[in-house]
Amino acid sequence: MATNSEWMRRRTFGIVSHPDAGKTTLTEKLLLFGGAIQIAGAVKSNKIKRHVTSDFMEIERQRGISVSTSVMAFEYRNLKINILDTPGHKDFAEDTYRTLSAVDSAIVVIDVAKGVEEQTEKLVEVCRMRSTPMMVFINKLDREGKDPFDLLDEIEQKLQLKVVPLSWPIGMGQRFQGVYDLYKERLLLFEPHGGKNTDKVIEIRSLDREALLPHIGGEATDELLEELQMVRGVYDPFDRERYRRAELFPVFFGSALNNFGVRELLECYVDNAPPPRPRPAIERIVYPDEEKFTGFVFKIHANIDPKHRDRIAFVRVVSGTFRRNTYYYHVQRDRKLKFANPTMFMAAKKSVIDEAYPGDIVGLYDTGNFKIGDSLTEGEVLHFTGIPRFSPEVFRFINNDNPMKFKQFEKGLRQLMEEGLAQLFELKDGGRKLIGTVGTLQFDVIKYRLEHEYGAQCSYEPFKAYKALWIEADDEEALREFVERRSRHIAYDMEGKPVFLAESPWMLKVVREKHPKVQLKTVNEDVTSLSQAYGA
Ligand code: G4P
Repeated sequence: MATNSEWMRRRTFGIVSHPDAGKTTLTEKLLLFGGAIQIAGAVKSNKIKRHVTSDFMEIERQRGISVSTSVMAFEYRNLKINILDTPGHKDFAEDTYRTLSAVDSAIVVIDVAKGVEEQTEKLVEVCRMRSTPMMVFINKLDREGKDPFDLLDEIEQKLQLKVVPLSWPIGMGQRFQGVYDLYKERLLLFEPHGGKNTDKVIEIRSLDREALLPHIGGEATDELLEELQMVRGVYDPFDRERYRRAELFPVFFGSALNNFGVRELLECYVDNAPPPRPRPAIERIVYPDEEKFTGFVFKIHANIDPKHRDRIAFVRVVSGTFRRNTYYYHVQRDRKLKFANPTMFMAAKKSVIDEAYPGDIVGLYDTGNFKIGDSLTEGEVLHFTGIPRFSPEVFRFINNDNPMKFKQFEKGLRQLMEEGLAQLFELKDGGRKLIGTVGTLQFDVIKYRLEHEYGAQCSYEPFKAYKALWIEADDEEALREFVERRSRHIAYDMEGKPVFLAESPWMLKVVREKHPKVQLKTVNEDVTSLSQAYGA
C-alpha cells in the first residue's frame, strides 16, 4: 500500500460533446467554481474556431495554445479535480479517443435543441466500451428545445445509456423558470444572465403544490408535479454504485452560459465520481494504491511552430508517486530516463512539479523517445492496454519523392505515426505504404512536418477503401486462408497485425458472411481486460 492517500483526492474526467454544445463554456464555469480562473472567457483558447475547418496551420497554432489547457486542474471541497481537454475538431477525434483512456469518468454535454449528435455518439461509445461512469448535462435550457422526456428517450436509444434525471426543467426558452433539483430536493430559480456563482435556491422538500405555487405559478407547478410523478415511475432511483459501474447515468438540465445548474452538477459529481481506477496491463491489473510508480503515455503533442519545436508526452499516473529527477524505466525502449522539468497544468498556467499521484497528468518534454501507449515504471515490465486504435476511414498511398532522403522519410514517418497522427499500413502485395486517418487534415500535417522537421518530401495517391479492419480468428488456419484468399485487400499495420481493407460496406457484409470464422474488428484493443479491471 502507498504511504500516502493523495491519490484518493483525485477526480480525473473529460467533457465530451459535439462541437458547439457548450463544452468550453461548461469547463469555464467549473473552473470559476474551483477558483482556478477569475473571469469568464479565460478558457477560450482550447477551442478550434469553426471558421478554420480546413486551414491546418491555423488549427495547429490554436492547438499549440491549447497545450496549456490540455489539463485544467482545480481544488474543490478538498478534492483535486483534473479536467482533460478533448479536442472538438472531428479530424482530431483520435486524440480525443485516446484522452478518454486517461480519465476515470466523463461528463457528456448535449444541446437541448439538437439532441444527440454524431460526435457525441462516437465519443460516448468509446466511454461505454471502457465502462467509464458518465453524467449528462443537457445545456442551453434558456432556448427552446426538445421535450425532456423525448430527449431522455433519445439518449437511452442512441447512446445506449440507462439514465436517471437528477434535475428537471421547469419550462424552456422564454418560459424557462429553473429546475427542480431531484438530487438535493430543492427548487432552483433561473435568473437570466445571472453569471454569479450561486443560483437562487429554495428548499422544498415535500414537493408540495402550495410551496411551489408562489415561485413558479399554477400552470408550471401542475406541469412539474405531473412530470415528476412520471419521472419517479419511469426511471430507476439514483444509485452511486450503479453509476460507478457505468450502469446508470445521472442527467442534469441547465444553462452553462448563464451558469445555471452547473453547481448542482459539480456537487453531485464531487459526491459520487470515482477516484482513480485500476488500469489493465497485459501482464496484470495495476492498482492506484500500489507503492511503485507506473504510468502510460496517452497523448503526444508536437508543436509545429518552428519557434516552439517542443514535444510533450502526456503521462497518466496509474500507481505510486511520480518524482522529478528520478530514473524510471521506459518499458518499450528498454532504457532508463529521468525528467528534470515535469510539468503540470493548472488552468492556463503550467508549472514544474516535484511529485504527482495517480489520477494526475504529467507533461514530459520529449525528444522523440515516446510513442502513444508507452509505459514508465520503476523497473517492472508492463504494457498497459486499453489505448484503442480505431479503424481509419480515409486512405492515401504515400510516396517518398526524394530517394536521397530515404532515411529521413522513414524516420519522420515512423515518429509521426508514433505520435498517433495517423496509421501506417503496408500492402501485402507489393508492400506499398498506405496512410489511414480519420480526417483529411492529417495528410497536410504529415506532408508539412516531413518537409519542415525531417527534410523529406512526400506525395500522395488516392486509394479507395471504406475501412481498415483488424483480422482475428481463433482458428489459425482460417486466418491464414483468409489472408491468402483476400490477398489483394490485405495490409499489415505497424505491429505487423493483418488488416482487411474493405472497399464498401456491402463488400464488408459479403466477406463477413463468407468467412464466419474470422472476426473483422473496427477497434484494435483488448476490451475484455478493461471490463475485468473495472469490475464491470
Ligand atoms: P463547444 O466548446 O462545445 O464547441 O461550445 P462552446 O462552449 O464554445 O459553446 C458554443 C456556443 O454556444 C457559444 O456561442 C456559447 O456562448 C453558446 N452557449 C453555451 N452554453 C449556452 C447556454 O447555456 N445557452 C445559450 N443560449 N448559449 C450557450 P457562440 O456565439 O457560438 O460563441 P461565443 O462567441 O459566445 O464564444
